[in-house]
Amino acid sequence: MDINELKKELEKSIKPYRGSFLSFEELPKEGLDKKEIIEMMKELYKLEEPRWKDGFVSGSVYHGDTEHIDFENQVYAINSQSNPIHFDIWPSAFKFEAEIVRMTANMLGAKKTNDEIVGSVSSGGTDSILLAMKAYRDWARDTKGITEPEMVVPTTAHAAFDKASEYFCIKMKRVPVGNDFRADIQAMQAAITDNTIVMVGSAPQFPHGVIDPIEELSEIARERGIGFHTDACLGGFILPWAEKLGYDVPPFDFRLPGVTSMSADTHKYGYAAKGTSVVLYRGRKLRHYQYFVTTEWPGGLYFSPTFLGSRAGALSAECWAALVSIGEKGYMKAAEGILKAGERLKEGIRQIPELYVLGNPLFVIAFSSDILDILAVCDIMSNKGWSLSGLQKPPCVHISLTQRHAQPGVIERLINDLKEAVAYIKQHPEIKGSLTPVYGMTGNINMQDAVKQFSYELMDLFYET
Ligand SMILES: Cc1ncc(COP(=O)(O)O)c(C=O)c1O
Repeated sequence: MDINELKKELEKSIKPYRGSFLSFEELPKEGLDKKEIIEMMKELYKLEEPRWKDGFVSGSVYHGDTEHIDFENQVYAINSQSNPIHFDIWPSAFKFEAEIVRMTANMLGAKKTNDEIVGSVSSGGTDSILLAMKAYRDWARDTKGITEPEMVVPTTAHAAFDKASEYFCIKMKRVPVGNDFRADIQAMQAAITDNTIVMVGSAPQFPHGVIDPIEELSEIARERGIGFHTDACLGGFILPWAEKLGYDVPPFDFRLPGVTSMSADTHKYGYAAKGTSVVLYRGRKLRHYQYFVTTEWPGGLYFSPTFLGSRAGALSAECWAALVSIGEKGYMKAAEGILKAGERLKEGIRQIPELYVLGNPLFVIAFSSDILDILAVCDIMSNKGWSLSGLQKPPCVHISLTQRHAQPGVIERLINDLKEAVAYIKQHPEIKGSLTPVYGMTGNINMQDAVKQFSYELMDLFYET
């Protein structure tokens, strides 16, 4: 498949409802019947629900039980008018947020250090990372006079760090990882300069699900007097329980004195609805560099702790409700199910001789092959209804396991389908993965602009009716 064919294929999947559902280019003259709207929403929901509900999807919906969703929706409905920027009208919003921050901080080692661990509720993992990087930039400028800041980040850390680099003019120093896909301690150390403001490690990283050597890296950062951010967007709400369950989890949180900030996503393994995450700091001073205040505006004294102005207090209410309704025992049980699914999946992949697991992951598992086009295997899996992620450098396929995969039979179905897909590609080695040409281009510096253009066109397509 060439890139134009791929574009056409993607268009079909991005715009599947063209012609089959009501659509509008202008506001309807008369408002529609509300019943009709609800019916349409239900129909769309029904079309989209089975794929994630039955465990065909990597990550995305981390809990997904009907009873949990109904409860969360009820909480959202009660709080749907709440807006934390009007803290005088809805003091409940910051009650919930303050407690979300405290519960998360204490889960991530705040009680095991003499420093005060503080934080904020943000709208998601990317938002938490952006807030932390902006805080480091302003901290370094203010306290060290650094005007050309740099960050030292393993190649495997999330793309949100590139976004932060671009948005906040912080030079990105991406450092190649070792053969085990963990950050390379010596190479990270060597990348530090007098302009470095922060070093980053992930627990775990998105592509291969492995945990960086946070203890060693954060110690280097501490000795150099720079910040260290642990990105635990994925692991924040599962690794503490994995550790208690006896899994081999290297230290990654505020128990390490060099860790000065963390991100942990409540909307992933915290099982809240999409739209919340927690960013944490060692000490109020660093958090102050995240805040925004203007005193001169005719609209009055204006301040906001995070990027957004008005925002949905209901999301924080339902996040708080998820945390306290599930509780420690509930999180432990959920983690146990997911980690066991991870063990079964790794074992199943090991029994497929053409495949191997990358690194030593727990619940986000990447696999590849030395003899097959693994991205072609990924396409066959898509034909079978799976939504797995095809990755690059090296080409591999990954799945983030959730509670949907802990359901009986799901991992077994995944392994069976994988066996069939591998057998098919073995018989048809001429089939190339649809992402193979795109990833071929990203590896060629002259073609990277073409890939950017392709991505712009896809994003334009999102906004076409
Ligand atoms: C390790 C890691 N960090 C950050 C993010 C970004 O999170 P979000 O998609 O909520 O912005 C992700 C998302 O998968 C992630 O896996």
